[in-house]
Amino acid sequence: MENKIAVITGATSGIGAAYAKEFARRGYDLILTGRRKEILERNGEQIQSTYGVQVHTLIAELSKEEDVEKVLEFIKGKEVEVLINNAGFGIVGRFYETDINSVCSLADVNVLAPIKLIHQVLPGMIQRDKGIIINISSEGIYMAVPGNAAYSGVKAFLKSFSEGLAMDLYKTGVKVMAVCPGLTNTDFHGKMGLDPARQVSKGMIQWMSPEIVVKESLKDLEKGRIVSIPGLHAKILVSIFRLLPGKIYYKMLYQFSQKNFSK
Ligand SMILES: NC(=O)c1ccc[n+]([C@@H]2O[C@H](COP(=O)([O-])OP(=O)(O)OC[C@H]3O[C@@H](n4cnc5c(N)ncnc54)[C@H](OP(=O)(O)O)[C@@H]3O)[C@@H](O)[C@H]2O)c1
Repeated sequence: MENKIAVITGATSGIGAAYAKEFARRGYDLILTGRRKEILERNGEQIQSTYGVQVHTLIAELSKEEDVEKVLEFIKGKEVEVLINNAGFGIVGRFYETDINSVCSLADVNVLAPIKLIHQVLPGMIQRDKGIIINISSEGIYMAVPGNAAYSGVKAFLKSFSEGLAMDLYKTGVKVMAVCPGLTNTDFHGKMGLDPARQVSKGMIQWMSPEIVVKESLKDLEKGRIVSIPGLHAKILVSIFRLLPGKIYYKMLYQFSQKNFSK
């Protein structure tokens, strides 16, 4: 790989695939991970031929230690300039009713895999005094709704960790940012069984494209923001929730989620 290198996890579809195209457009060679081999490889070939950059794809189930090791081994010694910890999936259901293996996988993919990848690429970034680390959290961390405890919990880790890490790196040329997207039209909700017909904007519920998430988050990165909440609608909602007294906040979100998200 001869150009600057961007590593993007979960680049098969959605937000990760949109970041991959954007960084290729900016002239980066890419190392992309995913699980759906055919789609990931097809995306990689398309990006390679469209943007004239090198793309390497790695099939990795990031809840498995040996697959994370495979990715770590591949990027070892490479001058990674951008790392985007984007891979993720959702689980719905009250915590005590959820399969514990799914919850552990959620933590592995959103906590262990990102910290291992970051820990490996950071020394080189610090030495070169240049680097970008983006961790994909979720707007959901600002909205306590039933059935979302484990997901919002691990995503809250990513935001909090990014903020602390950004402080550790404050005087260096390494930028760290957590992105908290709201509802985004990707494969994410379909994988959880949500009917695509329900993935439409209506009133308080507004859906974004993955391209908007990427565009707005990268603008925030340029502005030096440590937490990015793409979309004006999402920013307003989060600000309102932060101002509400706890009692009203929890009651309102509970009632709203019962009306809109219960099956
Ligand atoms: N869509 C939303 O409304 C929304 C909102 C807030 C935050 N997010 C977050 O945004 C990120 C990207 O999701 P998306 O919306 O773009 O959904 P997506 O289209 O389903 O993409 C998710 C990506 O993560 C990969 N992935 C999922 N589980 C994995 C695992 N166990 N091991 C390795 N890779 C795994 C998927 O790989 P394969 O498809 O190849 O299996 C895919 O490439 C996720 O972290 C998600 O939590 C999404």
